[in-house]
Amino acid sequence: MRIVNVVGARPNFVKISPLIREMRRHPVITSVLVHTGQHYDEAMSQQFFAELDIPAADHNLEVRSGSHAIQTAEVMRRLEPLLISARPDVVLVVGDVNSTLGAALTAVKLGIPVVHVEAGLRSFDRAMPEEINRVLTDAISDLLFTTEEGARRNLVREGIAPRKIHFVGNVMADALLASRTRWRTSSIVDQLGLAGTAFAVLTLHRPANVDDPRVFGDLLGALREIGRHIPIVFPVHPRVTSRLAADAAAPGSGRGLIFQPPLGYLDFMALMSRARLVLTDSGGIQEETTMLGVPCLTLRDTTERPVTVTHGTNRVIGTCAKTIVSEALRTLDEPPRPVAPPPLWDGGAARRIVEILLTERLDRRARLRESMAPAPALSASGA
Ligand code: UD1
Repeated sequence: MRIVNVVGARPNFVKISPLIREMRRHPVITSVLVHTGQHYDEAMSQQFFAELDIPAADHNLEVRSGSHAIQTAEVMRRLEPLLISARPDVVLVVGDVNSTLGAALTAVKLGIPVVHVEAGLRSFDRAMPEEINRVLTDAISDLLFTTEEGARRNLVREGIAPRKIHFVGNVMADALLASRTRWRTSSIVDQLGLAGTAFAVLTLHRPANVDDPRVFGDLLGALREIGRHIPIVFPVHPRVTSRLAADAAAPGSGRGLIFQPPLGYLDFMALMSRARLVLTDSGGIQEETTMLGVPCLTLRDTTERPVTVTHGTNRVIGTCAKTIVSEALRTLDEPPRPVAPPPLWDGGAARRIVEILLTERLDRRARLRESMAPAPALSASGA
């Protein structure tokens, strides 16, 4: 079985690592890794490959940055010839970034079965680019692996056949558990001079939070207010660096906020695991804090990962500055009690996925025949 795995952005690298490791245990699987190049800085890409023991990509499409249309189109343009010559049995995509959609669309148009890992998550907010990527990728996938039970309902509601959906748990949890002994020995907390000190961690990168200077300024104001009570480590995503430049130059800026370049996976897990509080607008971090049992406040109006609220440490508190400050101070005073991880977030998701891949028959020719057959209604009417 020849599987082409496509990744492009930081969270994809985390998710693919346990899958590649599991695929390599089965001689019957030939796994090919394609990096679209959506994330390309050393700190956003190579460092993750090294720390998560991901083999070097077999192909790098070097798509890099661009508008959503350009980025998605470039993935398609550059991946198509590669898939035509590699002739995989399956293309596997993870998550919800532009590379995920671009790769899935390229494969389906070549008649190659698509496997989506982390299917069925919905924020029901179509203004989020990731929501569009999720809905469309799921619509054209042949096998859909879900991380939480509610995802099946979302998929079935959208007309996805239940037989294609498998609840397997979370490969992000696999990655976190498999690397635990390594991130536990990271010295990042000492390096930041925070040993023995209570601190919080912040990440922000969503366009809705950082692209409008007024919205971003209000958020930073609230975070500085929290920073008067507890230092906040803020590893800054590249898309935020330029927006921060002017603001960071303002007198008194930085107080309470400890700006950092993007951190590697192991340092970041170590930092979060020892934080009193995490504030974020990321999707994956809501899951990782739930695994780590660290309180998380999500600075968005919605989450596509409700299990992190019902079974985890996450609270979705929106972006109103006053609310952020009061909720952060309240959480510091009364931390939520640690809970057991959500169902199947046990380190076995990649194993379940590969087992299903090996037993499901994803016959490319059968699939092509199916897609080319006239729709029953048309043939019945004799059209
Ligand atoms: C992307 C994903 C988002 C995911 C995030 C994780 C989409 C639509 N968004 O958002 O879902 O949560 O990755 O980080 O796919 N840049 C660099 N170096 C890099 C990568 C990016 O400088 O290595 C800069 C570029 O200026 C680029 C900007 O960051 O324009 C945004 O990168 P992009 O990949 O377009 O989106 P993210 O915001 O990273």
